[in-house]
Amino acid sequence: MANNAQIEIQIEDLHKSFNGHTVLQGINLDFYSGEFVAIVGSSGCGKTVLLNTILGQYPIDKGIIRILDRSDENWVLKKLDDFNELEIDNIHKHWGVVFQRNALFSGSVLFNIGLWLKEIKGMDDETIIPIAKKALTAVGLPDDEAFLEKSGSDLSGGMAKRLAIARAISMDPYVFFYDEPTTGLDPISSATIHNLIFDIHHADRTSIIITHDKDLLIRLRPRTIMLHEGKVHFDGPFDEFEAAQSDVIRPYFETMPLLHKRIMEKVEIDPQLSKRKGLNV
Ligand SMILES: Nc1ncnc2c1ncn2[C@@H]1O[C@H](COP(=O)(O)OP(=O)(O)O)[C@@H](O)[C@H]1O
Ligand SMILES: [Mg+2]
Repeated sequence: MANNAQIEIQIEDLHKSFNGHTVLQGINLDFYSGEFVAIVGSSGCGKTVLLNTILGQYPIDKGIIRILDRSDENWVLKKLDDFNELEIDNIHKHWGVVFQRNALFSGSVLFNIGLWLKEIKGMDDETIIPIAKKALTAVGLPDDEAFLEKSGSDLSGGMAKRLAIARAISMDPYVFFYDEPTTGLDPISSATIHNLIFDIHHADRTSIIITHDKDLLIRLRPRTIMLHEGKVHFDGPFDEFEAAQSDVIRPYFETMPLLHKRIMEKVEIDPQLSKRKGLNV
């Protein structure tokens, strides 16, 4: 489902293998601007590899990835291969990524938020500090001097994820990618992250969430994409995914742990807010 017809990222017949082990074998997907999307599928099915190919982290074997080039006044979809390094940097300036592992760099909270702003956006410390404070406030973390100087490695799992999200927010991105943002978190921290992801999303932003978190799907009811055996097995509204009788989806869905039912009920999302955001929550 698209909120409007502008494609932000287009993937055509994407193939990727490692040392003869085929991971992706013909992925076709369009991500539209403003969409709220989850990518699911069993461990090792290629979700992170798909994200990394979009991020241009390694060459692909076959297929085309196109990215919306907003620097062209006509906003054209352009092949990833056709962007030069500077143009790719410009794209990445407007993407926020919350990685699955090693979400934080070693160093202070301020260093963690500031590095991309410095390296990708070319900002100086004076400009970075107010942006960092605003981003920390947005994710419910302290923004005082002591916290800015705190080492990222001293934070709890939930706080570290929040900091990783604050870092992504500080880029003021068009597109947010989250790779398993709640894996390993306790139920309360997970619910906080669900709310954050939801609050950050709006019509001009695309949110793409790789997840195993059934609670997140049930609460946020995104467009759901399931990868299976290197292909897109399902792509549609969560309602249809939830009701699907496919013998691939059913066992996967049933075994997704639902750990947080009691907590979920306590942190219901305001339906008015959902409506304003055009989400089917
Ligand atoms: N850089 C790499 N080199 C070799 N194999 C890789 C690499 N990255 C991922 N793989 C393999 O690709 C498959 C998919 O991995 P991944 O996308 O991380 O799964 P998930 O869906 O759990 O995110 C796995 O079999 C993994 O071992
Ligand atoms: Mg992964």
